[in-house]
Amino acid sequence: MPSKLAAGNWKMHGLTSDLNELRAIAATAKASDVPTLICPPATLIAAAATPGLHIGGQYCHTAEHGAHTGDISAQMLRDAGATHVIVGHSERRTDHNETDVDIQEQSKAAKAAGLISIICIGETLAQRESGGFLDVLATQLRNSVPDDATAADTVIAYEPVWAIGTGRVAEVAQITEVHDALRDDLSARFSDGKEFTLLYGGSVKAANAHEIFSCANVNGALVGGASLKAADFCPIIEALAAQ
Ligand code: PGA
Repeated sequence: MPSKLAAGNWKMHGLTSDLNELRAIAATAKASDVPTLICPPATLIAAAATPGLHIGGQYCHTAEHGAHTGDISAQMLRDAGATHVIVGHSERRTDHNETDVDIQEQSKAAKAAGLISIICIGETLAQRESGGFLDVLATQLRNSVPDDATAADTVIAYEPVWAIGTGRVAEVAQITEVHDALRDDLSARFSDGKEFTLLYGGSVKAANAHEIFSCANVNGALVGGASLKAADFCPIIEALAAQ
């Protein structure tokens, strides 16, 4: 069985005072026995250390160190206390022109530093409407995930770009179609493909979490806006525990 994961992506939100939210999130994670991860801005990683919670980064460079002003390496994230890193989020792909090959290299750097990668893939609205989105996703998966990835060091997050931060959630049938396809692709490529944790992301909130987690190959969620406040995120953790 893939392990569950409730992951929060704080994006470019959060000051020291917001770390107060983590105590209640950790308490719910412990009580529900759901592995829970918060990826705050890099400035907060060290201070975010909280028993019962995993802490992660939102991006890492492919190199361990070097002349790359403003960048951050996987080794630095690990040193600050991170156990995970999100790579290939659609906002990084768009804002920083990151390609599948870049993302695969970032994932390799993460593994070398001892971090678990959460590799994000997702189609745009135009790609979905053109009908070829399953091919788009299969290509992203093939090219973003390293050949030596294992279920122990890699998590896949399906985040339709049109559902991120829009309040528009993919329907259960749409999520199921994609997650079943991802599971088939992973199982064909990796001996432990059935064990990879598959997350859905895109406007997940308390009100839709139960429905999303009822999909067969959904093992958790990558949550943006609704992970910033314990009052919003804790019910999502509880919904995952109930599956
Ligand atoms: P959202 O973001 O939950 O705010 O839609 C999800 C994500 O980008 O990971």
